[in-house]
Parts: sequence; C-alpha cells; structure tokens
Amino acid sequence: MTAVAVELADVGVRLGSVTALEQVSLTFDEGTRVGIVGPNGAGKTTLANVICGYHHPTAGRISIYGTDVTRAAPARIAKLGVGRSLQSVGRIGGISAVEFLSLGLETRWPVSLVHTLLGTRAARRAERWARGAATELLDEMGLGRYGPVALEHCPYGVRKYVDVLRTLVGHARLVILDEPTSGLSTHERSELHELLDRFTRASPTTLLLIDHDVGFVRSLCPTSVALDAGKVISAGATADVLADPKVIRCFTG
Ligand SMILES: Nc1ncnc2c1ncn2[C@@H]1O[C@H](COP(=O)(O)OP(=O)(O)OP(=O)(O)O)[C@@H](O)[C@H]1O
Ligand SMILES: [Mg+2]
Repeated sequence: MTAVAVELADVGVRLGSVTALEQVSLTFDEGTRVGIVGPNGAGKTTLANVICGYHHPTAGRISIYGTDVTRAAPARIAKLGVGRSLQSVGRIGGISAVEFLSLGLETRWPVSLVHTLLGTRAARRAERWARGAATELLDEMGLGRYGPVALEHCPYGVRKYVDVLRTLVGHARLVILDEPTSGLSTHERSELHELLDRFTRASPTTLLLIDHDVGFVRSLCPTSVALDAGKVISAGATADVLADPKVIRCFTG
C-alpha cells in the first residue's frame, strides 16, 4: 500500500478577514509529483504555509507521514522531512549565495545547537563541509561566480534557483516549491526542469509544485490540484485538471 505523505481533512484558514482556504481535503501519496495551480489569490501559498506550520488551520486537521501536525510549529514539521522554497526571495539579504545554499546542506550533517552556539570543532567542521559542498554544487550548476556574492546582489532568477537548490539538497522527504519558475529565463526554466526531473526520479521524494507555468507543471506532474478562492475546484490527472472548464474559466476570468 502506498504511504501517505500529507493528508488535509476539511482544512480552513482565515487570515484576518480573508478566508484563504475553505474545506480543503487532499491526500498526497508518498513519492508522487503533484502540481498546484490556480489564479492569483487562490490560496496556493497559504496551502504551502499551512502544511509547513507557518499558519495554523482555523478548521480541520493535517497529518504528515501519519503524525498529526495541526497545531505543530514549523521547526517540528521541518524535522519530519518537509522542505520548501519561497515564492518571494526578494527580502533575503545579508548572506552570500554559498552561505545560503550551505544552510540546506547543514541539515545533512546536524550538530546540536550547543555545538553551534559554542562554535566547537564539530560545528566548524560541519560548516566547512557544507560550504565546500555548496561551492562545488554552484560550480556544477554554472553559478560558481555568484557563490561569494551577497544574495541581494544576485539576479532574481539566480536567487530563486539557489533557493530551490537549498530546498532540494536538504534531503527533505516532502519538497514544496512555491513558484520556482517565476523570474527564471527560458534557459533557466529548462535547467530547473531537468534538475527536478532527475532529483525526483533518483529519490522517493514527494513534490508539491506550485506554479503559474502550466506547461512546466504538466511536464513534471502526472496529477494536479486546482484551487480558486480558497477551494479545491478540480483534482486528478493534470491533463484533465487543466482541461476542466471550471479551471479554464477561473484562469480566463
Ligand atoms: N498575511 C495575510 N493576511 C491577510 N490575507 C492574506 C495574507 N496572506 C494572503 N492573504 C490573502 O489570502 C488569499 C490567498 O493568498 P495566497 O497568497 O495563498 O494566494 P496564491 O494562490 O499563492 O496567489 P499568487 O498566485 O498571487 O501567489 C488572498 O486573498 C490573499 O490576499
Ligand atoms: Mg502564492
């Protein structure tokens, strides 16, 4: 039997006076690649946020790998193997590309907080290893020259790409990418496509891919979910979801 990565049962999220999600019931099986589509304001980022614990549901329940996380803090959810990239990388600053990427790698060589705070030899060794691996990875991706550059001075597409890499290298079991293609050139999009395809084939990762580029979603995700005004309006095979008149209507207004 296929294991369930995430289950949302009748989840609602209110943000101030806005109902951002309403009666959302979804099951994401382990090892699947699922597209999340919908117009602006549909609730896609809120769905990512509520799975990661950045928002708590105002109704319903969420479980991840069988653990109830309805009221869990983001750090506890991350420890279950959940990683996500950010929709908006514009505000990340004060850190170089290589340092930012090594944050993802350090989760693979965990040292306790005490070691980190005391700057022990074990903590310094982990940090050196992560930096070396991050530098190598950026080189391999043809982004080596951006390694020492402050993230806020890197082109937007590079920042997005590095954030996606940071999410992938953390070896999360569940990876949620929030509009990874926004700001990427056509060439960068096809590189990202290849990277995600290779990554998900080589590991049992569950991928939730939020994106406005429906061609990108179609070619990576066999199944999809469409949201509109906080509700699931269609779910199933991606081709069927994208051809669903309800979905076409909400995209075309
Ligand atoms: N912090 C917040 N406070 C109040 N309302 C919010 C907040 N964040 C989002 N919203 C509202 O919740 C709804 C869903 O927003 P969300 O960001 O999840 O949409 P989205 O599908 O990710 O849109 P986009 O494609 O533009 O990224 C929108 O009406 C939005 O204005
Ligand atoms: Mg969003």
